[in-house]
Amino acid sequence: MKVLVVGSGGREHALVWKISQSEGVDKVYCAPGNGGISLQAECIPVGPDDINGIKDFALKEGIDLTVVGPELPLTLGIVDAFEEAGLKIFGPGRKAAEIEGSKVFAKELMRRYSIPTADYRVFDGPEKARAFLERASYPTVVKADGLAGGKGAIICRTREEAFRAIEDIMEKRVFGEAGSKVVVEEFLEGEEASFIVATDGERIVAFPSSQDHKALYDGDKGPNTGGMGAYSPAPVVTRDLEEEIMERIIKPTVKAMDREGRPYRGFLYAGLMITGDGPKVLEFNCRLGDPEAQPLLMRMKSDILPLLEAGLSGEMGRINPSWDERASVCVVMASRGYPGSYEKGKEIKGLEEAQRLKDVVIFHSGTERRDSRFYTAGGRVLGVTSLGRTIKEAIEKAYGAVSHIRWEGVYYRKDIGAKALAERRS
Ligand code: AMP
Ligand code: GLY
Repeated sequence: MKVLVVGSGGREHALVWKISQSEGVDKVYCAPGNGGISLQAECIPVGPDDINGIKDFALKEGIDLTVVGPELPLTLGIVDAFEEAGLKIFGPGRKAAEIEGSKVFAKELMRRYSIPTADYRVFDGPEKARAFLERASYPTVVKADGLAGGKGAIICRTREEAFRAIEDIMEKRVFGEAGSKVVVEEFLEGEEASFIVATDGERIVAFPSSQDHKALYDGDKGPNTGGMGAYSPAPVVTRDLEEEIMERIIKPTVKAMDREGRPYRGFLYAGLMITGDGPKVLEFNCRLGDPEAQPLLMRMKSDILPLLEAGLSGEMGRINPSWDERASVCVVMASRGYPGSYEKGKEIKGLEEAQRLKDVVIFHSGTERRDSRFYTAGGRVLGVTSLGRTIKEAIEKAYGAVSHIRWEGVYYRKDIGAKALAERRS
């Protein structure tokens, strides 16, 4: 069987790594992939937004199954295009992917179906938004409607900050068309967690909980990034809470999408705030998280192929994956300057030593391979991921591996997983 993974980041490396261990898989391809991925898959130089290019490749090569990593091709309708061409692909169609592609759609869905989320208002013009923000209470959160690479949610502590957010999003259009509408929503307090499931549109397989670290600096300070590290499980998500999340959020959402004529098949990711008032949805993503996928797939003991196939045949009810009891931690190593501008092309040293360590896998996010050497080629460069009996042990192993790896201008957070330790003690 030939499997194609679409995307080029750490999440896609983890998918390629996991899928290539599968019994039924003869060959894995990745479009476009990266330096690390090229050791395990044949990389195809087609961008993730070139839907026709990817489809033509899949037809020509006789790809049996395609899995999509990032949101962009999903919101552009890659699943619809593949299905029309008679190709098998795991992921939501364009109309279902709108759950991530439009925050307005997601919020209205949640309101219609009483799925717990922050209170909100939608505005389609800057004047109306400002009139509301004039009298709002602070902090408040301003979000661009469309995709903004994880940067479209702005926490505003004052009215001035909120006005600036409206100016940036709606007038300067820093996120382009994504800013033609905004959601202004209530600021929620609590601890964040990511809850990811796979569904065939009806039956749901829950993955273990995980937690991202979105802020650039230690102590959750600084600007938001795509994610500087992750761990699984997230101790804040107790068994009871997991059940509450399934019953009050995940199941009603999958049902709601079906009722709306947008049957949802694929990975569904709920970004949650665990508030004093229970779990509330911050956002939905139509895919696996990056970097959450790295620790989650490292903990997945079962073959992933039957899950993907069951998702397509509507037999998810038969799937009950087994998970490693151990904890997993992923530390993202990034280029200095990220999430702003950064230099590329720095040689990465120490990968072999780090890779030799037990229970450690180094997933590549932004690397290039030339003459069997690796060079930086992105903002997030590596996701050093470990397994340990406890979160503490997994943290030690991940940072032990990180300590071998260096390049000019490497940056990483030193406190990935620390929150989980604090949670355990309390
Ligand atoms: P989003 O892209 O909507 O998940 O937002 C990105 C990040 O902004 C989240 O991971 C939270 O850290 C923060 N955030 C978003 N919405 C809220 C909210 N209503 N209250 C507090 N923090 C929020
Ligand atoms: N780690 C956050 C995301 O994938 O959106």
